[in-house]
Amino acid sequence: MFKVNENFQKLPGSYLFSTIAKKVNEYQAAHPEKSIIRLGIGDVTQPLAPVIIEALHKAVDEMGHAETFRGYAPDLGYDFLRNAIAKNDYQDRGCDVSPDEIFVSDGAKSDSANIQELFDTRCRIAVCDPVYPVYVDSNVMAGRTGTYDYDSETWSDVIYMPCIAENGFVPEYPKETPDMIYLCLPNNPTGTTLTKAQLQGWVDYANKVGAVILYDGAYEAYISEDDVPHSIYECEGARTCAIELKSFSKNAGFTGVRLGYTVVPKDLKCGDVSLNAMWARRHGTKFNGAPYIVQRAGEAVYSDEGKAQLKEQVAYYMRNASAIKQGLTEAGFTAFGGVNAPYIWMKTPEGMTSWEFFDYLLDTANVVGTPGSGFGPSGEGYFRLTAFGTYENTLAALERIKNL
Ligand code: MLT
Repeated sequence: MFKVNENFQKLPGSYLFSTIAKKVNEYQAAHPEKSIIRLGIGDVTQPLAPVIIEALHKAVDEMGHAETFRGYAPDLGYDFLRNAIAKNDYQDRGCDVSPDEIFVSDGAKSDSANIQELFDTRCRIAVCDPVYPVYVDSNVMAGRTGTYDYDSETWSDVIYMPCIAENGFVPEYPKETPDMIYLCLPNNPTGTTLTKAQLQGWVDYANKVGAVILYDGAYEAYISEDDVPHSIYECEGARTCAIELKSFSKNAGFTGVRLGYTVVPKDLKCGDVSLNAMWARRHGTKFNGAPYIVQRAGEAVYSDEGKAQLKEQVAYYMRNASAIKQGLTEAGFTAFGGVNAPYIWMKTPEGMTSWEFFDYLLDTANVVGTPGSGFGPSGEGYFRLTAFGTYENTLAALERIKNL
């Protein structure tokens, strides 16, 4: 009789955002007359920029002619896209990253879940708490768990680094030494970030203890302050300790198009073993390349027109972020984030857990957010609102919250 991977039984029945979607859909079915505003999952609402649509159309036409038709994409990505990424996201910013260190994929969610395959199952992970649930769930699936403590809702083999208002949402170096450290900056869900000096501290720490930083930069386009690094490779020594994961979802609205990439520097080694070579081997075996059409759309992101159009799109969402933060503050809530990230992280009202506030907000204001405890134990007492809604819906949601 076959046996299943029992690690799956250690996970909650469904993924955080699937649980929320189910709850909201059930509520809507029971109250069809109510108009619900969804500021829960960080999914974009603005249409793709014209330059991207144009690139998609052109690539689709190419696929319709024998001379320009493309079959399987190169498994690590087309050179035209890898070159554009290396130049625009790294070299123009003074970071030492070459095209053959860039691996194009179908998005940062899959990469951030899959990257742990490069490491021994006995490696210990450290995560910020609260945390994007994919990091922990994918490691639980791989068996990096130990035992579960029901009181603290933590795994004994996972090192949780609390990021709360009291420490300015800045993780402290853990007492136990991790092998893999997940950092998402600007941060999902708290919407806060680290300065260049703070990130440099983490790079130095990782090099010292022999850990790898898995750096998720999905929200990099939302950075507005000067002293915030746009890539971990701005820090000295990052090439020997850091892998960077990037997405086209939030900067270019590709949540439904799917495109991302991962940088694995050639200097990142365990003894003689190159992680770049390992990821190439893994990618080549398990992935057949992102679609040509989509990679051409990704290339358009780096054109002058693309940059200008996407700057406007990011500004549109950041206008929402400011409105949410200001509106919540006026309504008497304490709110964080929203300056370098499209998320606002608010305190729930005194005496209300984050799931209680979720139910209350859904029922009384018909507004959906994300309960902080869904991101980890230190998220309890907090609630996340996304700035990715339309401006009109964002203002309407705030009006309803103010009238509570
Ligand atoms: C979120 O809402 O945290 C993200 O949009 C989910 C994701 O990017 O997968």
